[in-house]
Amino acid sequence: MKEYGVNELRRMFLDFFESKDHLKMKSFSLVPHNDKSLLLINSGMAPLKPYFTGAEIPPRRRVTTCQKCIRTGDIENVGKTARHGTFFEMLGNFSFGDYFKDEAIAWSWEFLTEVVGLDPQRLYPSVYLEDDEAFEIWNRKIGIPADRIFRFGKEDNFWEHGAGPCGPCSEVYYDRGEAYGCGRPDCTVGCDCDRYMEIWNNVFTQFDNDGNNHYTELTQKNIDTGMGLERLAVVVQNVDSIFDVDTVRALRDKVCEYARCEYKKDEKKDVSIRLITDHIRSATFMISDGIMPANVGRGYVLRRLIRRAARHGRLLGIEGKFLAKLSETVIEGSRDGYPELEEKREFIFKVLTQEEDKFNKTIDQGLGILTDMEESMKAAGEKTLSGADAFRLYDTYGFPLDLTREILEEKGYDIDEAGFQACMEEQRRLAQESHETTNYMGADATVYDGIDASVTTEFVGYDRLVHESEVTVLAAETELTEALSEGQRGTIFVKETPFYATMGGQQGDKGVITCGEARFIVDDTVKLLGGKVGHVGHMTSGFIRAGDRVTLAADASGRADTCKNHSATHLLQKALKLVLGNHVEQKGSLVTPDRLRFDFAHFQQMTAEELSRVEDIVNEQIRTALPVVTQVMNLEEAKKSGAMALFDEKYAEDVRVVSMGDFSKELCGGTHVANTGMITAFKIVSESGIAAGVRRIEALTGEGVFRYYRE
Ligand code: ALA
Repeated sequence: MKEYGVNELRRMFLDFFESKDHLKMKSFSLVPHNDKSLLLINSGMAPLKPYFTGAEIPPRRRVTTCQKCIRTGDIENVGKTARHGTFFEMLGNFSFGDYFKDEAIAWSWEFLTEVVGLDPQRLYPSVYLEDDEAFEIWNRKIGIPADRIFRFGKEDNFWEHGAGPCGPCSEVYYDRGEAYGCGRPDCTVGCDCDRYMEIWNNVFTQFDNDGNNHYTELTQKNIDTGMGLERLAVVVQNVDSIFDVDTVRALRDKVCEYARCEYKKDEKKDVSIRLITDHIRSATFMISDGIMPANVGRGYVLRRLIRRAARHGRLLGIEGKFLAKLSETVIEGSRDGYPELEEKREFIFKVLTQEEDKFNKTIDQGLGILTDMEESMKAAGEKTLSGADAFRLYDTYGFPLDLTREILEEKGYDIDEAGFQACMEEQRRLAQESHETTNYMGADATVYDGIDASVTTEFVGYDRLVHESEVTVLAAETELTEALSEGQRGTIFVKETPFYATMGGQQGDKGVITCGEARFIVDDTVKLLGGKVGHVGHMTSGFIRAGDRVTLAADASGRADTCKNHSATHLLQKALKLVLGNHVEQKGSLVTPDRLRFDFAHFQQMTAEELSRVEDIVNEQIRTALPVVTQVMNLEEAKKSGAMALFDEKYAEDVRVVSMGDFSKELCGGTHVANTGMITAFKIVSESGIAAGVRRIEALTGEGVFRYYRE
């Protein structure tokens, strides 16, 4: 048999199925499109789900791809064994309601034995327990003796991956010979040793799983096949593992070159060599698909892969940054099948280098702290790191729990994970609290459900605090009412109000509504669905009826303080970006008359120096007395003007853009000072972590700063 290379095998497969009328399609991105059930594409069929279910019409009913895939379920084992990896390529041929079992089985046999030239005597098929049809095809049409065909249950021979199309399958195993066996007398196809290697899976996609294991029969019968390209290469090149096939070996050798060591000389080093080799492949491909290191979701998977690789580089004694250099070898080995790697080359290098830099800083700091923690454990004769310490490393130094665990494990320590989880839980609770106070919908109560949808309120309070308007609806505590009278609590709705309703993190106004002798104290102003503003409070004298003309007066001093805090929040956000970088993104905000609270994305605790710089910048912009200008424009214009916005937030067509000189420009519906000079002074009173990668700053402005200093 000829020893084809990885790139050659990929081409041979795609050409073979093209000759069987399949449309060759290029690999889809690793980022799933319209599929919330997956973080990353993990098989050839994943991006094709709508074609299987019939939800979309495929460009042709026969398609073939070589799909880049990432599976991180076994990430803990990557490196430790030679069979685990996160990245692989999956060869596949697909039929969307076209051919079925007969052709799929015959073609897989033809490709393996005739095109690639594998020895038929080493190949063994398996079928699903009850699938006599597939059994017959292998037995009668292909001519495999019955005793060489294995029947397995749902565990092995029913393919499904979360929600989506699934069905019974038939696999092909390759016998790599006794040398790879476990030697047990009952070792045969299905044994979990390395002798019988599963290379190809033919799925007869007949069902759709709704994600809760409710199966419905698909109207069309489909074929979904998957063959790991690297695994096929292992067999064809007759090597030990995926780390020995040509393209991957070239990368592995580069790792060894940088580490100045040889593979298979030292088992401990081999673990690191394999881990780096695997992780840099995943990372390179992920970045080429636009994924950026982050603290959640896919971005977190990427960050973890990069950081694990960087750390194992240190274990191997590699000096200096090496990940970008390694990705060059990945690109070289795989650009044949994935031209996007070449196109994104510089970008890939840059992202890897940046993240490696960041990690090096984090790790130096964190390792020092961890060593101190180890010392105290040793002194106390303890073997378990407390949950609080593990959490401090995580929260303050950006050390993920798994990294701490790995480092400690190597030294025979473990972690009080329950304690760690308890700290996480507490933090989540705090974050939740902050989320609730920034709830853009404001209040909701069933008593308001009965209000007619035609009732709306116009906010007229950007430039005035007192306004006269007509009462439209009144609500007592449990029902809508015609009037509110002395002593009663309730909510008043009017046509136009100068009261700002809690929204965008800014707390609603307090104040008073009067009508002759009647007086209603407003404790809170809430925004309700459908553009209604409710003034919540109680009557202290007289009564107010629907239809009355009332005078609404928002509390001037509370509003003025709120404006200072809100404008200062904009200056703060800009200053944070200047000092910490553009990754600073608003995660929550609360603006009240007393203080401001701003939550933002950042990985590490801010240093005292960074905090002073931020304070200085904000105070300088206050002293400069910048005019604050608001403009209403359409969303597109606003984006073009470079206004900061939370782009996953839903905005209306027309938005309000608040600018403070040339210093800050932000989409915002809140109220502000007319000139930054009116803020008078700004002081940060605390900086803390409230969730993974989310920091919180609390600060004071105006009179609050002076009170603070006096105290
Ligand atoms: N979708 C099948 C698998 O991933 C072919 O094994």
